[in-house]
Amino acid sequence: MTPNTEILGPARNRVDGPLKVTGRAKYAVEFEVPRCVHAWPVVSNLAKGTITAIDSKAAESAPGVLKVLTHQNAPKPDEAKSKKKEVTRASGIRIEDRNPLSDDQVHYAGQYVALVVAQTLEQARYAASLVRVSYAPEKPTLTMAEAAEQAQEPKKNQEENVQPKKGDVNPALANQSLVRLRETYSTPTETHNPIEMSGTIAAWEGDDKLTVWNATQFVKGVQSLLARTYDLDLENVRVICPFVGGAFGCKGAVWPHELLATMAAKVVGVPVKFHVPRKEMFTATGHRTPTSQTLALAATHDGKLQAMQHVSQTLTSPVGEWTESCGARSTAVMYASPAIRVEEIVYPVNVATPTFMRAPGECPGVYALECALDELSYLLQIDPVELRLTNYADNHPIKDVPFSAKHLKEAYQLGAEKFGWSKRSAQPGSMRDSELLVGWGMATCTYPAHKMAAAAKAILRADGSATVQCATHDLGTGAYTAFTQISSEQLGVPFEKVTFELGKSDYPFGPVAGGSNSTGTVGTAIHEVAGLLHQALAVLATKDPKSPLHNLQPNEIAMVAPGRIGLKNDPLKSDSYADILQRAGKESIAVESKLEEPEENEKMAFQSWGAHFCEVKIDPLLPRVQVTRVVTVIDCGRVVTYKPARSQILGGVVMGIGMALHEETAYDPHTGLPATANLADYHVPTNADIPQIDVHFVGEPDFAFNPIGARGIGEIGITGIAAAVANAVYHATGKRVRDLPITPDKLLS
Ligand code: MOS
Repeated sequence: MTPNTEILGPARNRVDGPLKVTGRAKYAVEFEVPRCVHAWPVVSNLAKGTITAIDSKAAESAPGVLKVLTHQNAPKPDEAKSKKKEVTRASGIRIEDRNPLSDDQVHYAGQYVALVVAQTLEQARYAASLVRVSYAPEKPTLTMAEAAEQAQEPKKNQEENVQPKKGDVNPALANQSLVRLRETYSTPTETHNPIEMSGTIAAWEGDDKLTVWNATQFVKGVQSLLARTYDLDLENVRVICPFVGGAFGCKGAVWPHELLATMAAKVVGVPVKFHVPRKEMFTATGHRTPTSQTLALAATHDGKLQAMQHVSQTLTSPVGEWTESCGARSTAVMYASPAIRVEEIVYPVNVATPTFMRAPGECPGVYALECALDELSYLLQIDPVELRLTNYADNHPIKDVPFSAKHLKEAYQLGAEKFGWSKRSAQPGSMRDSELLVGWGMATCTYPAHKMAAAAKAILRADGSATVQCATHDLGTGAYTAFTQISSEQLGVPFEKVTFELGKSDYPFGPVAGGSNSTGTVGTAIHEVAGLLHQALAVLATKDPKSPLHNLQPNEIAMVAPGRIGLKNDPLKSDSYADILQRAGKESIAVESKLEEPEENEKMAFQSWGAHFCEVKIDPLLPRVQVTRVVTVIDCGRVVTYKPARSQILGGVVMGIGMALHEETAYDPHTGLPATANLADYHVPTNADIPQIDVHFVGEPDFAFNPIGARGIGEIGITGIAAAVANAVYHATGKRVRDLPITPDKLLS
């Protein structure tokens, strides 16, 4: 492809690549902390009940055991007693309301009921097998049907209205002269399964200083939450996490293992490492709630939507509130319609608390909506792309304000062209590759652009190098590389001479690496700090009689070329960073920026867009679905650096193919324990499942959104792809599977 130079930054190799491939990149639990001992959990194997007794004698006398922590002897930290009351989006989320080991109640299977601490991991694990827990079991609530009476319709999910509406959908949905559709789509529980399991090493120095090496998407959030939990001064809690081996949302909030590690370290008086076992990654660090979503659409015969209704039913747990805002983040933003109604119904069940998982809300919501649109296209006999163009939303459908820079039409056009969509024969089952059924499907993808608070520090040296620091994160996304690129451009220092440092709470504030906000938010803080740096240089130069800028006003001066500040309109009046610092006798200068969380913009909406086109081939005798081609076109504003950005889209598409065809956390209907709590039974795509994926970017830098022009890219790729696959399967077979994953049995029946 020809790169679009307007939006595509250079294709940088990952700056952390060599560290990773040589094993020198240290992940949280790989830090060697002197005297560190190991923890292994004991978990409940029933979903609801009361602990009546814990026999830990055998465990306590097993080799190497230092402590068996239970609700009877565990510390009871109380956040409510902390003096640090102010809790904002910048202060981290405790996902479970309840502290681990706080009482004898069991709320879900897999809940930690004891923690064994021993000299070695093997000793801790063996001793944990000796702990005997007795329960008075109660009948758990495990399904939406069983929880019907406890169903809630939350108005808000944090600050977001999750029940948005516009106009009245009922007249159009009852109007028999319109083309109408009402279908229910369901998605199963999905589990994140990053390669790096969550884990924490906690080390106390006395009672008031705590250091944690912790796999997290939010070092400042963990710092704040631990400070509140133990009533410590913020600067006495240090959180260190230079690398993350994948997260997808499961490391966004603070989970019980992080609290347990700190509690255990306090009790045993030496550092404790708690590396969550793979099995517990299915119960103790969240999952995507299953969803049941009913879409009702009404359109005129020429395809104009008249009403859209999206009712989602999802789960939460008894110990945490979670709302997967399926409709609010899909049907409420994607198409022009005079009437829109979104409802969310949440059922508390005795299953561990769901959490953020790559595009929480958008991902299942866009799946359901984009399948419904496809079904509508067949009812109307209108091409699926044409139907979407017919209902194109220039303005945000609920807020009725324009989108800052929406280029979805180009995405449809380029995607259709690259895919060869015009050669599609509309009739289901009409395309073949010898014996194989061929299906072509498409779907729109979308994700909002979020802004948060951030700060950055820049250090510029006389030798021409620079270091930029922010307590942000690289989840494996390429953030180190993107921030190095932004720092290089904004500071005016060559890429090779910039070191970007992240993953430590000692650095200036970085927001949660969630909601695809990091590149734009931290990028804006880097833009700010670069401006401050240029001003600091201008102050030095204007005071220096030897500088061509002597006696000018610093505020007339800005960067005019990489490594140079000067007067914008006078090329003779400029000076180099190196000369300014050298003449001032300074080895380096340092400045720090600070951005508050921005107010919501009420005049404009910020959203990224894209289109997936997908081909599947299916043997009619053994209906295994093979995805054979994907073309994805994304409009996300400026792409800071092309290679890692493309990889983010590839990863989203792969994960979306997994959602469509493979992934499902299945639960034992009696115990509520996941039956697929390992990577053999929980199927994710392998190389053989993934075809060539052709990724393109369209659009323009979104400078109305931020000075970097970038809207973020971590999540959009997964939205819509499951619908594109499901729509291609229908086109191949004439069979509409509305229940993910699309396994061969569902196509046989
Ligand atoms: Mo992402 S699910 O916002 O960590």
